[in-house]
Amino acid sequence: MNTHPLSINLDRLMDEIETLSHFSDAPPPAVTRILYSEADLAARTFLRQLVDEAGLDWRTDAIGNTFIRWPGAEPDLPPVATGSHIDAVPFAGKYDGVVGVLGALEAVRSLRAAGFRPRRGVEIVMLTAEEPTRFGLGCVGSRALAGVTGPEALVALRDATGLAFDDVRRSAGFSGELAGVALNPGHYRAFVELHVEQGPELERAAVPIGVVTGIAASTTAFVTFQGDGGHAGTVLMSLRRDPLPAACELALAVEAAARTHPAGDAVATVGIVEVHPGASNSIPSQVRFSIDVRNQDMQVRDQLLQHFQTMAEEIAARRQLEQRFQVVNSDHALRCDPQIIEAVTGAVVAAGLRYKLLVSRAYHDTVFMGQICPVGMIFIPSRGGYSHRPEEYSSPEEIGNGVTVLALTLAELAGRAASP
Ligand code: GLV
Ligand code: MN
Ligand code: MN
Repeated sequence: MNTHPLSINLDRLMDEIETLSHFSDAPPPAVTRILYSEADLAARTFLRQLVDEAGLDWRTDAIGNTFIRWPGAEPDLPPVATGSHIDAVPFAGKYDGVVGVLGALEAVRSLRAAGFRPRRGVEIVMLTAEEPTRFGLGCVGSRALAGVTGPEALVALRDATGLAFDDVRRSAGFSGELAGVALNPGHYRAFVELHVEQGPELERAAVPIGVVTGIAASTTAFVTFQGDGGHAGTVLMSLRRDPLPAACELALAVEAAARTHPAGDAVATVGIVEVHPGASNSIPSQVRFSIDVRNQDMQVRDQLLQHFQTMAEEIAARRQLEQRFQVVNSDHALRCDPQIIEAVTGAVVAAGLRYKLLVSRAYHDTVFMGQICPVGMIFIPSRGGYSHRPEEYSSPEEIGNGVTVLALTLAELAGRAASP
């Protein structure tokens, strides 16, 4: 039975999710919100307005990570943190990341409305650029907070047009010292992220809440094949050094290796292919493409990555091309903290709901927050398992369940202030 006293204002929350979805560079229902774009900056302004209306304080750091504070009765204690991201990959849906930010705000508002006074502070963190779209690197904000990606690495980032991360973040209004972004281990008591599952397991099991036990290890690499361009009519086939068939060959090898790996659940994706110069009557001179490879077993991920690199070298040699294999990130798998898992499962039970333990095959900022504090995640179902596409959907009821579980988890981890 549901015995907790919280009431979530779902109408308000769903309105806010809908409004946020319109800060986008794609027509609805698609959402495209790329780091530091006008849409991203407008979405951030909207979020801060909501925070102001809720009477909460906020601050941003030098890269736009935004910290929203609900002070606790004992300000010397490390606060409990929650949050996620509001950037969105091209032609995404409305819910990825957003549920964990606006849902966290609703969780705090509902706890306050219920008269709950936390012993520790509660901090909502809106993390900059969880998606890798602009600078090729995902989880930029949480990597920087955890000190995994330091100022030098941030300064070296360039977008596809050659713009430097450091210049773009300053133009976006974030001008502090990059060296001041990292937080010390222990800064937070815990970090708990509410997120849509982005996969089909909860829907298939007809279970409303997923309690995440770990997150798969993920790598992004970019491969460049350099050949010889030229006229599509005049250069005979025997004389060509065309990098595009080489890229196709490698993409097929990537698919085959992941599909047939004995682990059974390895995944690898070629998601970006840039062909230069890109004319129907020119032989390409250069092709650059991405490979994303993941598994919860890091050995499986590493084996596949090594195999792809060997294949790239072999294909380039056979086709007389130059090749470059650049690993952008190769992150460890994460295990969620048993205490946080216990707090979340306790909250699910208190909310009168059922849960399933599962591993996240998507990556999340929680991977990097886990470097500085104990972490956990709460999943809600995604219809059809859809994500990173406009059809992404979780119902108001499912979102309400997630917010309730998050609120009860935060209350448990923050503790109740002693009566005055
Ligand atoms: C996050 O969006 C991921 O690619 O898993
Ligand atoms: Mn995403
Ligand atoms: Mn996400």
